Amino acid sequence: MCGIVGYAGTAAANEILLKGLERLEYRGYDSAGIALVNGDGVHVYKEKGRIAILRDSMDQAQPGPVGIGHTRWATHGAPSQVNAHPHQSRSGRFTLVHNGVIENYEYVQREYLADVEMVSDTDTEIIVQLIEKFANEDGMQTEEAFRKTLSLLKGSYATALLDELNPETIYVGKNKSPLLVGLADGVNVVASDAMAMLQVTNEFVEIMDGEMVIVTRDDVQIKSVDGDTVTRDSYIAEIDSTDIEKGTYPHFMLKEIEEQPFTMRNIITKYKDENENIKLDEHIRQAVLDADRIYIIAAGTSFNAGLVGKEMIEKIAQIPVETHIASEFLYNMPILSQNPLFIFISQSGETADCRGVLVNVKELGHKTLTITNVPGSTLSREADYTLHTYAGPEIAVASTKAYTAQMAVLAILSVDTARAKGIEIDFDPMQQLGIVANAMDIFMEKKDELEQMARDYLSVTRNCFYIGRGMDYHVCMEASLKLKEISYIQAEGFAGGELKHGTIALIEEGTPVVGLATQESVHLNLRGNMKEVVARGANPLMISMEGFEEADDKIVIPRVHELFTPLVSVIPMQFIAYYAALHRGCDVDKPRNLAKSVTVE
Ligand code: G6P
Repeated sequence: MCGIVGYAGTAAANEILLKGLERLEYRGYDSAGIALVNGDGVHVYKEKGRIAILRDSMDQAQPGPVGIGHTRWATHGAPSQVNAHPHQSRSGRFTLVHNGVIENYEYVQREYLADVEMVSDTDTEIIVQLIEKFANEDGMQTEEAFRKTLSLLKGSYATALLDELNPETIYVGKNKSPLLVGLADGVNVVASDAMAMLQVTNEFVEIMDGEMVIVTRDDVQIKSVDGDTVTRDSYIAEIDSTDIEKGTYPHFMLKEIEEQPFTMRNIITKYKDENENIKLDEHIRQAVLDADRIYIIAAGTSFNAGLVGKEMIEKIAQIPVETHIASEFLYNMPILSQNPLFIFISQSGETADCRGVLVNVKELGHKTLTITNVPGSTLSREADYTLHTYAGPEIAVASTKAYTAQMAVLAILSVDTARAKGIEIDFDPMQQLGIVANAMDIFMEKKDELEQMARDYLSVTRNCFYIGRGMDYHVCMEASLKLKEISYIQAEGFAGGELKHGTIALIEEGTPVVGLATQESVHLNLRGNMKEVVARGANPLMISMEGFEEADDKIVIPRVHELFTPLVSVIPMQFIAYYAALHRGCDVDKPRNLAKSVTVE
C-alpha cells in the first residue's frame, strides 16, 4: 500500500528517492511522485502507473539534496496524476505526501477550508491546505501549523512535508501508519520501511503514534504530541540488501517459492538450543500455558496459516483455538473466554485490520503475541511478545515462504506447549521440519511437470475449484487464493463434502477441480467427492500423499507427518499458480489491485 520516502543530505536526492520508491513497489501502488528541493524551489513530479514512467518524466529534473517521494494505492479518488502525491498547498509553499486514511477529511474541509478549492479527490489534500491556512492566516511557524493540523485529524497517517521557505527540513508526522527515520553521517532519511532506504543506511529510529519529527541532514528531532523533545535509541535493521534483489530469478515469487526449504532449515536453527530443545522465550511459553483459549487474528494468506495453526495447537497442545479474519473480528468481537491469548499472524506486521484488533484487545487487558516476518513492525512492537518467522524479506505480493514459515513456527509453538503441559508427543518437530524441507526440495526439481500441468488445466479456463477435507481444506483455501491473486482465474477452495450443497452447480464440462487428499481419516471421502465432480464433467487434478496414492494421481507428495502436510502440499499449488499466471501474461509479482502491506482498514 502507499509508501513514503524522504531524503535530506548532500547527494542528489533524485536517484535515491526513485530507488527507494522502487523498493516500496512490492507494497502495491498505482501512481507515484517525488518532490525535489533544488536551487529555485520545490519541484513536483508525479505520474499515474509504474515508477518507470515517473523516472522517465524526471529525466530533465535538476538534482537537489532534499526531497520526498510517494507510491499511492488509491483509496479516495481514482488512480490519476492529479490524485497522485505529493500534493501542494494553494500557493505552492507546502508540499506533502501521506500514507493512511483521514476519516474526518470532509468535516475538516467544511469547517476550515470552505473557501479553498481542492485540486484532487483525495483525503490528503486537506492536510497541506490546512497547514498553509494556519501559517498564513494565523501566522504560525511551520512546525506549529503542522502540529495543529495533525491534532485535528482523525484516522491514520504517516506524512512528510516540505516548506519552500525552510527547504532543508522535512517535517514528519505519524499516527497508526508505519514510518521510520534512518540515520547516517550527514544524511537522514524517512521511509515506510527499512528496505526502502537500505542503500543509504541500516540504522533506524522508530516513530511512535502522535509524534512529529523534524529531519534535516544533520539532525533528527523527535517531538511528542505536546511538543516535548523525545530521545530514543536507534536500532540496526538486520536485512541483507541482496535478499531484496531478484538475482537471476525472473520473478520474486519464483525466488521465494524456491527459498522455502532454506527457510525451514533456518527456522530449525533459530528455534533449537544447544541441547536440541526448543528455544523459546519463557514468557511466551507461560502466556500460552495460561491461556484457556487462543484467538488467532489474521488476514489473507496469514489467515489461511492461522486455520492450520488452529488444528496444530488443538491437536498437539490441546488448547481450544478460534481463528478469525481480522477485519471481521474488529467490529464483531465474539464472547471471549476468561483468559484468552491473542495471536496475530502477519507477514508484514503492518496489516491495519490486525492492528485495530490488537489495540482493542490490549485495552481490554489481554495478552498478545505476534508471529511475523518483520520483528520491528508495528504489530511486533505493540504486542506483548513476538515470534519471528525468519523467512527473509518477502517481496512478491502473493505470499509463499511466509505462509509455510508461519505454519512451521505454529507447529513449534504447539509442541513446546504440549511438552510444557506434560503431553506425550511422539515426534520431534525439528526432525519433522527437516523432513518437510527435503520433501519441498523434491518439487524444486519438478518445475517442468508443474508448469505443464498449469498449461494443461489453467491456460484458458474461467474458473477452478480446489477441494480437500480437514487440513487439506485449509491448504485448498490458500491454493485458490494464490491462483486468483496472480492469474485472475476465479478460484475457490471448498470443503470436499460441502461442494454438493450448492457449489457443484458450477461444475461444467472441463472445469478444473484440484483434489487434495493427504489426511488418513478423510482421504477416501475426498476421492468420493472427486468422483461426484468428475461425473459432472470436471477435469480432475488429484494430489495425494505417499501411502494413499492411486494410479491416476497427478502429484504425490512425499510422506510427512499428517499435521505437517500443508507445508508440503502447498508447494506444487504455488508453482501451478505461478505458471498459470505466467502463461496468461499476468504481472506475477505485482498483481492488479493488490497491495503487499495493507496499512488501511
Ligand atoms: C495483503 C497481501 C496478502 C497478505 C495479506 C495479509 O492482502 O496481498 O498477500 O496475505 O495482506 O498480510 P500480512 O502482512 O498481515 O500477512
